[in-house]
Amino acid sequence: MANEDNLLKNIIAHSKEYGFIFPSSEIYDGLSAVYDYGQNGSELKNNIKDYWWKFMTMLHDNIVGIDAAIFMHPTTWKASGHVDAFNDPMVDNKDSKKRYRADQLIEGVIEKLEEKIEKEVEKAAKRFENFDRAMFVSTNARVLEYQKKIDEINDRLKTAMGNGDMAALKQIIIDLEIADPISGSRNWTDVRQFNLMFSTEMGSIADDANKIYLRPETAQGIFVNFLNVQKTGRMKIPFGIAQIGKAFRNEIVARQFIFRMREFEQMEMQFFVKPGEEMQWYEFWKAKRLKWHKALGLGEENYRYHDHLNLAHYANAACDIQFNFPMGFRELEGIHSRTDFDLKNHENYSGKKMQYFDPEDNQNYIPYVVETSIGLDRMFLAVLSASYKEEKLADGSERVVLRIPAPLAPNKVAILPLVKKDGLPEKAMEIMNELKFHVRCFYEEKDAIGKRYRRQDAIGTPYCVTVDHQTLTDNTVTIRHRDSMAQDRVSIASLKDTLTDACSINNLLKSI
Ligand code: GAP
Repeated sequence: MANEDNLLKNIIAHSKEYGFIFPSSEIYDGLSAVYDYGQNGSELKNNIKDYWWKFMTMLHDNIVGIDAAIFMHPTTWKASGHVDAFNDPMVDNKDSKKRYRADQLIEGVIEKLEEKIEKEVEKAAKRFENFDRAMFVSTNARVLEYQKKIDEINDRLKTAMGNGDMAALKQIIIDLEIADPISGSRNWTDVRQFNLMFSTEMGSIADDANKIYLRPETAQGIFVNFLNVQKTGRMKIPFGIAQIGKAFRNEIVARQFIFRMREFEQMEMQFFVKPGEEMQWYEFWKAKRLKWHKALGLGEENYRYHDHLNLAHYANAACDIQFNFPMGFRELEGIHSRTDFDLKNHENYSGKKMQYFDPEDNQNYIPYVVETSIGLDRMFLAVLSASYKEEKLADGSERVVLRIPAPLAPNKVAILPLVKKDGLPEKAMEIMNELKFHVRCFYEEKDAIGKRYRRQDAIGTPYCVTVDHQTLTDNTVTIRHRDSMAQDRVSIASLKDTLTDACSINNLLKSI
């Protein structure tokens, strides 16, 4: 059984072995922080997209979806602030030659202090009956000391980041005596700003060539289309525009598998509201998005909110929904109150009005925006890591099973003739040819049935239907449930309804 350190490694190996995720251009030794989704990965990814898209555009009659281009006019990124402010502070260790994000090195110290507090709390909780956590953390001397230190570091970090003061960041690293996690060396370069946007050139003639960017967020494709959609869709505020698409960031430190990639996908929704009402919508979307996550049943305890201390250049309030990944709680989705920053700047830079005429108030205004932004790949990792289980069975054997929620599973049902003769494959194909119009099916006749069940467990197929000799006489099959491994004898006629019901994204949406 894997301990926590090995868990991510095992998940990465499993993803490759079972056709979920491959390193990009692997035959050339791969490309750092870029991945390809295999036959099972792309199905799972499409199902996550479907769950999100339907939630946004089917359950909300005031949200519509678009699909904007990746390339955008370069002024877009000037207006959005990304040319000037989409930077991360980077620092190199002169001995190990490794590069780090300075703010993350500092946040690492804060995380360690937070862990120390948690340890104190756990120790005390074991010692005292009727343990009162709030009382303990507000009175225990050691905890108070750690908390004081955290607050001091946070204040300094926030000020340095807010002022773009790289020298101050370097000073924090020196004062905290932060060492390179690899070499242990404290021999740091100065901290420098590093712009995360990838650029390329458009146009075949060198003179005509224009520097353009690969979009670092999908949101700007929504902002520049705000009036197109509002007018053609006769949308009334409040309303939202949703989009799923690729985004690109030249991350300084890209690691932890698909958690931080250089090419990734975002699912973003910009909700346009009346100025002054943004905080109530911000709270509304925080709650709604958490419900969407929890409906998947990956464990309520695996989610928490985390308010941003250092707000992005466009936000007046922001929080993350964090998920308990194998490497601990990390950002899965961001909810941001973006004010009128983007629309106002696009109006200034383009000279085109970005205003909405509110018929109720009889006035024009630039709407405020509340954004929900989730990384599709990160959501994939959340589903995969919560579903991945190494189990010891009652008979002493072991299995690896992906307990993926049935509506998201790559295949819903595997159709397996018990043996490869006696007309069983033909009967199985007959069942498959009926079911494949309703749920995604997988057919396999090779190997012993037990081995085939294990293979389906490993790719997360929630149901296996086994066709045996009895099937030929009474039109019944066994249906095996992935999670309990229980088997029932059911009629072929009942399969369609049972499977479509259990695997339906729409039913999942109804539970939200
Ligand atoms: N439009 C706002 C925006 O882009 P963000 O917090 O920078 O905000 C939103 O990104 C989400 O996109 C994150 O919560 C994360 O899930 C995902 N994301 C960001 N950078 C990523 C990366 N390098 N690799 C994978 N996912 C990423």
